[in-house]
Amino acid sequence: MLQLIKGFKDILPEEARVWRHIEQMTADTFADFGFAEIRPPVMEKATLFEKSIGEDTDIVEKEMYTFADRTGQLITLRPEATASVVRAYIQHKLYAGDPVQKLYTIGPMFRRERPQKGRYRQFHQINAEALGISAPYIDAQLILMLMTLLKDRLSVSDAGLHLNSLGCRQCRPDFKTALIGFLKSKQPDLCADCARRMDRNPLRVLDCKVEGCRQATAEAPAMTDFLCSDCREHFDTVTGLLNDMGLAYELDKRMVRGLDYYTRTTFEVQTGKLGAQSAIAGGGRYDELVKMLDGPDQPAVGFAIGFERLAEIVANEDVVPEARGVDLFIAALGDQSREKAFGWMCDLNRSGFRAEMAFEDRSLKSQMKLADRLHAARTLIVGDAELESGIAPLRDMTTKDQQEIAIDNLTEAIKPLLTNTDKQQRNR
Ligand code: HAM
Repeated sequence: MLQLIKGFKDILPEEARVWRHIEQMTADTFADFGFAEIRPPVMEKATLFEKSIGEDTDIVEKEMYTFADRTGQLITLRPEATASVVRAYIQHKLYAGDPVQKLYTIGPMFRRERPQKGRYRQFHQINAEALGISAPYIDAQLILMLMTLLKDRLSVSDAGLHLNSLGCRQCRPDFKTALIGFLKSKQPDLCADCARRMDRNPLRVLDCKVEGCRQATAEAPAMTDFLCSDCREHFDTVTGLLNDMGLAYELDKRMVRGLDYYTRTTFEVQTGKLGAQSAIAGGGRYDELVKMLDGPDQPAVGFAIGFERLAEIVANEDVVPEARGVDLFIAALGDQSREKAFGWMCDLNRSGFRAEMAFEDRSLKSQMKLADRLHAARTLIVGDAELESGIAPLRDMTTKDQQEIAIDNLTEAIKPLLTNTDKQQRNR
């Protein structure tokens, strides 16, 4: 049997219902905060990601799906969306009228990681990117938006915010020097990857998941001890604003993130509900990236939420409304009634009602069972006798009350009755 590719996943109807709910909540919440949607493509030139994410990151070194197309051009299935959003900002000169752009996008990403629960090779992210603002207010607003969506709107009650600053071009070199010095003293305890990357990209060592590396770097110097006065002030303002908003956070001096473009504020959201893959979202500032990709010198800050991880929690929280039930089931007995029923059903479907019927010849008992399974609010029963008399019974499936209804002009006669179905329920 043909099966899907390892690390890829089908989103089956019951899950898709949860996904839709999350997408809706995200669109509503992000609109409240002034974010507009953008939809970049899933493939880009490989160089876009190599340049932005960094050559010696895990993503670029070993996880990208990069291949030559038929002309030999190297293209990559995007491992993240930030680089694409920045590319679009530059390419379409979205900064021309007003450099400030608050954008979000939801879609699939691809990383060839080792698959496990909560970690896929095609996964989805909810991305938010605010370009053109250097003031720390936007860092705080973005974090507030993230926590509002997760905690208030989607009930991820234990979502914990972890915060760090990675400094800037001015102050990071001193930190790197100190860190390399420290790492040299620990070299024998580091894994082969870390020993190799240590000089070029020492921050990656702090992000290594290998237990030996984690232990060896427990006492490593912290970037926050090296911040220049501007970065210090920026970070203190962000934490001050979060305090004012009553948003709890934990300072995490080890958090360096897995991508190279970050500057200043970085953050992750962790949850205890997912087992090993506890990071549900991550993000931060990337003030140099727009310029590095040949755009204007504009700062930016953003985050991405792991959709599968979020969906798993939301599915267990019982916050997703029930699927909308069927407004009317038409139980038809005999060929002639079935043909009539089909016409009524189609007419009601086109008018926005959920009408259903059995397409094959079935006993009344089996059709009533089907109506129950579909949670039909009402069932109309038609056979030859009803066609003859022009009157058919309409049963309320909850109360079991039955009324007679004229079927000459059935759909017009029945619509006002069906509109009584709970409005909210019908809109789902
Ligand atoms: P990231 O930390 O690489 O950041 O990914 C963000 C989130 O995506 C993670 O916290 C996790 O929930 C989810 N995720 C990552 N890899 C996988 C995977 N293999 N399977 C399932 N979920 C996964 C970024 O991608 C940055 N672009 C975030 C950002 C936006 N920074 C600034 N703007």
